[in-house]
Amino acid sequence: MAPPSRLLPPMLQILRRRCASRCHFSTAPSLVSPPSKAVLYDEHGAPDQVLRVVDVPPVHLGDRDVCVRMLAAPINPSDINRIEGVYPVRPPLPGAVAGYEGVGQVHALGPAVTAPLSPGDWVIPSPPSFGTWQTYIVKHESVWHKVRSDVPMEYAATVTVNPLTALRMLQDFVKLNPGDAIVQNGATSIVGQCVIQLAKVHGIHTINIIRDRPGSEEAKDKLKLLGADEVFMESQLDMKNVKSLLGALPEPALGFNCVGGNAASLLLKFLRQGGTMVTYGGMSKRPVTIPTSYFIFKDISLRGFWLQRWMNSDKAEDCRTMIDYLLGLVHEGKLKYEMEAIPFGEFSLALEKALGKHGSQPKQVMRF
Ligand SMILES: NC(=O)c1ccc[n+]([C@@H]2O[C@H](COP(=O)([O-])OP(=O)(O)OC[C@H]3O[C@@H](n4cnc5c(N)ncnc54)[C@H](OP(=O)(O)O)[C@@H]3O)[C@@H](O)[C@H]2O)c1
Repeated sequence: MAPPSRLLPPMLQILRRRCASRCHFSTAPSLVSPPSKAVLYDEHGAPDQVLRVVDVPPVHLGDRDVCVRMLAAPINPSDINRIEGVYPVRPPLPGAVAGYEGVGQVHALGPAVTAPLSPGDWVIPSPPSFGTWQTYIVKHESVWHKVRSDVPMEYAATVTVNPLTALRMLQDFVKLNPGDAIVQNGATSIVGQCVIQLAKVHGIHTINIIRDRPGSEEAKDKLKLLGADEVFMESQLDMKNVKSLLGALPEPALGFNCVGGNAASLLLKFLRQGGTMVTYGGMSKRPVTIPTSYFIFKDISLRGFWLQRWMNSDKAEDCRTMIDYLLGLVHEGKLKYEMEAIPFGEFSLALEKALGKHGSQPKQVMRF
């Protein structure tokens, strides 16, 4: 005897097959992420007081979601500011997961993902987005940008916030030609180290200011090895005619300030007539004060840069192209900077170091 389905009229058979296939999807177990660990905060405050590592239950993947197993994520000054509640854009509370950039590996894909991603690919959130300090993240496929996996993972984890800032600031304010010079303070920061090397790629000289601290002579040598033309400690610039220190270097038309206070005033001393100082950070937590004469007699311009504002314009695709370019430079050995990889299990120590509780430390990058 024919099986029951063979007895149904053809149209009914088709409907039945369609229904069966729908039933198959709706009854199949939906995809879920593995349980995760996350660094979470419910209120703003000192990071070592408000952050805690918690277990997060598995999350369901939507049709176009991608589950990523995080590999590494840095602790940047802006992450600290977000947790403190002093950064203008912050994740909603309570239950915010800290972190803003990082790299992970594709773990699972929702059934309707169309992006060219496969399990094992390295991806970064691009533009960066909240919540990278956790072991598994589930987000829509459009969040993720596939990056090359033949560079050290610490670079893929840190390529967006600081190297991209350096690249943009060199391009967006003053037209620089090979042979020109720029001046910057906070030169030991990752941004500062990237400025030195990206400038060098384009034949631009750098004059660098670092603070006086234990190890500053060693820091000076390291920056010279990266290609810095001149490196001065703040105490060396306590003189009237700092430009006499420049030798054959041209007076810079552009300066980058991430410190404020006296370090910004020292930077201004180097700027040439009509020069521009771009402020992008305030590590000393001191205001920028400008002598009146700098405006009248030197016609100095003051500008500001914020990567997030730049990324909120229509630049998301440019951002991905530039990230690929920067990771290419890393691969070629033309872009490097000091970092310390630290296991996620030692998160409290990494945080203490990032907060400056162990003196000056390299950038802390957590490995999950
Ligand atoms: N506006 C933007 O879009 C944007 C984007 C990226 C970064 N940033 C800002 O850029 C700055 C550097 O970030 P990063 O991640 O590259 O830095 P980083 O690698 O974490 O290094 C921190 C830097 O700050 C210096 N520093 C720390 N405390 C200081 C103090 N009290 N006084 C003076 N200098 C101090 C350190 O000098 P030592 O080596 O002497 O310790 C080091 O150069 C930060 O202010 C960050 O918020 C802004």
